[in-house]
Amino acid sequence: MNTMEKSIVRDMSLAPSGHLKIDWVKEHMPVLNRIREQFEKEQPFKGLKVAISLHLEAKTAYLAKVIKAGGADVTITGSNPLSTQDDVAAALVEDGITVFAKYNPNPDEYKEHLIKTLETKPDLIIDDGGDLVTILHSERPDLLAQVRGGCEETTTGVIRNRALEKSGELKFPMIAVNDAYCKYLFDNRYGTGQSVWDGINRTTNLVVAGKTVVVVGYGWCGRGVALRAKGLGAKVIVTEVDGIKAIEAYMDGFEVMPMAEAAKHGDYFVTVTGNRDVIRGEHIEVMKDGAILSNAGHFDVEINKQELEALAVSKRVVRKDIEEYVMKDGRKIYLLAEGRLVNLAAGDGHPAEIMDMTFALQAVSLAYVNEHYKKIGPRVLNVPYELDEKVARLKLEALGLGIDTLTEEQKAYLESWKEE
Ligand SMILES: NC(=O)c1ccc[n+]([C@@H]2O[C@H](COP(=O)([O-])OP(=O)(O)OC[C@H]3O[C@@H](n4cnc5c(N)ncnc54)[C@H](O)[C@@H]3O)[C@@H](O)[C@H]2O)c1
Repeated sequence: MNTMEKSIVRDMSLAPSGHLKIDWVKEHMPVLNRIREQFEKEQPFKGLKVAISLHLEAKTAYLAKVIKAGGADVTITGSNPLSTQDDVAAALVEDGITVFAKYNPNPDEYKEHLIKTLETKPDLIIDDGGDLVTILHSERPDLLAQVRGGCEETTTGVIRNRALEKSGELKFPMIAVNDAYCKYLFDNRYGTGQSVWDGINRTTNLVVAGKTVVVVGYGWCGRGVALRAKGLGAKVIVTEVDGIKAIEAYMDGFEVMPMAEAAKHGDYFVTVTGNRDVIRGEHIEVMKDGAILSNAGHFDVEINKQELEALAVSKRVVRKDIEEYVMKDGRKIYLLAEGRLVNLAAGDGHPAEIMDMTFALQAVSLAYVNEHYKKIGPRVLNVPYELDEKVARLKLEALGLGIDTLTEEQKAYLESWKEE
C-alpha cells in the first residue's frame, strides 16, 4: 500500500497550502537543513521504521521529511487533538509519509491514530508528552519488541518517562531531548514566550499593555511568558510553589503572590506548570469580569474545566477558540482553546528558527539512540553534551556569529588547582 492508501487525514485537496507552509519553515531552519544533507549521505535510518507523535504543523512536518531523508519509513500522528494542521498533514502524505491525524478528532479517533502509528511496529520513536511510550508499556506491550529506543520532546513527557524508569518498567532507552540546553533555554523560554502571546493576541485581538497578566509557574516556559508579557506592557504577577523560582521571579521584577490573591487581579491568566488544577473553582469565583484564561502546559488539566463549567449558568463560543462562561453573578470568564496549549491550538506554535534547534536535537539524538541503544539499555538518558554543543555551533554558524576559543594556557589554568 502506498502512503495515500494507508493514511487517515481530513482532506487531500488541502495539500498545496501545506507544501507552501513546509517550504516557508524550511527556509528558516538552516541547522536542520545541514543535518538533512548529512543524513542524505549517511542514511542512518536505512531500512528502519520511525513513529512520530508531535504537534503536527509545518516545522514538525519538515523534521519528518529529514528523518525520511535519512532512509526511514516514517509514520506520524499528532500529540494534541487541536494542534494538527490538516493541510500540512495532507502535504506529508504526498511526500511519502504515512499520516494518522486530523484537526479536532473525537477522543476515540485521537487514541486510534496513536495506536495505528504504533501498529506499524516502529524501530524508533519520537514522542511528545509521553503518549506513545505509555500506550506501548500499558496497553500494547505486544508492539514493544522491535523498539530500539526513542526521544522525548517535552517536560511533561520526560517526567512520565522518568516515572516509568523509576518503577523499573521502562523497556527501552529514551533520550530526554527536552532537558538539553539547546532545547529548554530557547524553545521552552523564548519559543513559548513568543508563541503564547502570538496565540492569545491573534485569538482575542485585544490589548495587553496596561493589563495584569498572571503567569502560573515560573519554570523555563513561565519565565519566557512573563518576560514577553512585560515587553508588551503588562503588569505581571507570578504564582509559584517553589520558593527559589518565586525569589527569581521577584528579582526579575515581577510581583509574587499566592493564586488565591492573584486571581482577583488578573486580566489574563497563563498556566505553564505541567501540573493539574492550578486554576480551580475557588479562584474563578473571585476573578474579574472579562478575565481571560489560557494554558500553555502540555495537558488540558491545568485549568479545572469541570469546575469552571459547574460555576457557569451558560456557555457559548463567541469567537474561534474563545468560549464565554457566564457566572451566576453575571461576570463573564473566557477560556481560550478549550484550555489546551494556546500557542499550538490557537496558533502555529514556536517560531521556525527556535524549532530549528529543537528538531536538530531530535534528529541527531534519534541517530544516537539508534547507534547506541544496546549499550544504553532501558533508561532515560540526557542528550550527550557534544550533540548539544554541535547544534549550538551549527546555529552560531547559521547566524554568522563567531566566538572565541580557549588558548592552551587558559585551558591549563582552568584545569589546575594550583594558584599561579
Ligand atoms: N506550550 C508549549 O509549546 C510548551 C513548550 C515546552 C513545554 N511545554 C509544557 O509546559 C509545561 C511547563 O514546562 P517547563 O519546561 O516550564 O517546566 P518547569 O518544570 O521548568 O516549570 C514548571 C514550574 O511550575 C511550577 N508549579 C508546579 N505546580 C505549581 C502550582 N500549583 N502553582 C504554581 N506553580 C507551580 C513548578 O514549581 C515549576 O517552577 C510542561 O507541561 C511542558 O511539557 C509547553
